[in-house]
Amino acid sequence: MVRNFDPDRPVPAEVVDRLLTHARRAPSAGFTQGWSFLVLAEPADRELFWTVTTPPGGGNPSWWLAGMRRAPLIIVPHGNRDAYLDRYAEADKGWTDRDEGRWPVPYWHVDAGFAALLVLLTAVDDGLGACFFGLPADGVAPYRAAFGVPAAFTPVGAVAVGYRAPDRRSPSLRRGHRTAADVVHRGRWSAAPTPDDNG
Ligand SMILES: Cc1cc2nc3c(=O)[nH]c(=O)nc-3n(C[C@H](O)[C@H](O)[C@H](O)COP(=O)(O)O)c2cc1C
Repeated sequence: MVRNFDPDRPVPAEVVDRLLTHARRAPSAGFTQGWSFLVLAEPADRELFWTVTTPPGGGNPSWWLAGMRRAPLIIVPHGNRDAYLDRYAEADKGWTDRDEGRWPVPYWHVDAGFAALLVLLTAVDDGLGACFFGLPADGVAPYRAAFGVPAAFTPVGAVAVGYRAPDRRSPSLRRGHRTAADVVHRGRWSAAPTPDDNG
């Protein structure tokens, strides 16, 4: 993730197209493709985005906001729950009760996240930088109102994109990468107990 951008270098139109083309090739449950993307490239639109999603006096430090606001492009990926409930009520799926309890996790969020990752990977591939970041929970309603986003569409976050400028790495990186031993479980979650473990 990159959190500071050259404000004088817009993202070329063909790169914007590639970001969105690749996003639309993300995998999706039932091939629903129930995502939608709001693309903010005009300065006034980006300004509005930051105004409605930045709670007064809260949240992110000023260095973060200053760097992120320099990004010439913001792409907001959304998941549409209704599109998935409709798709899975079709004959080949048959969940006609549209019961959300059938879903092990909300695939509309999963798929929008996959699409966001493809935006990130495409940006890096094209020599740009990008950062996926969350919207504050109390910023979602003002965001929807400001940009006319229907209630069924949930922004899963936003991706700032641009040519990178020197930035601060996230303080979270001090945590270090977790090792395979920490997170990979082979065969069973826990190693089988040995006779010694039984006393
Ligand atoms: C769901 C999600 C939410 C995130 N939210 C933020 C955020 O609000 N602000 C931010 O600066 N980075 C955010 N990040 C980026 C993470 O901080 C970053 O991926 C992590 O520190 C690892 O750094 P790397 O992606 O550069 O390897 C988010 C990432 C994910 C996947």
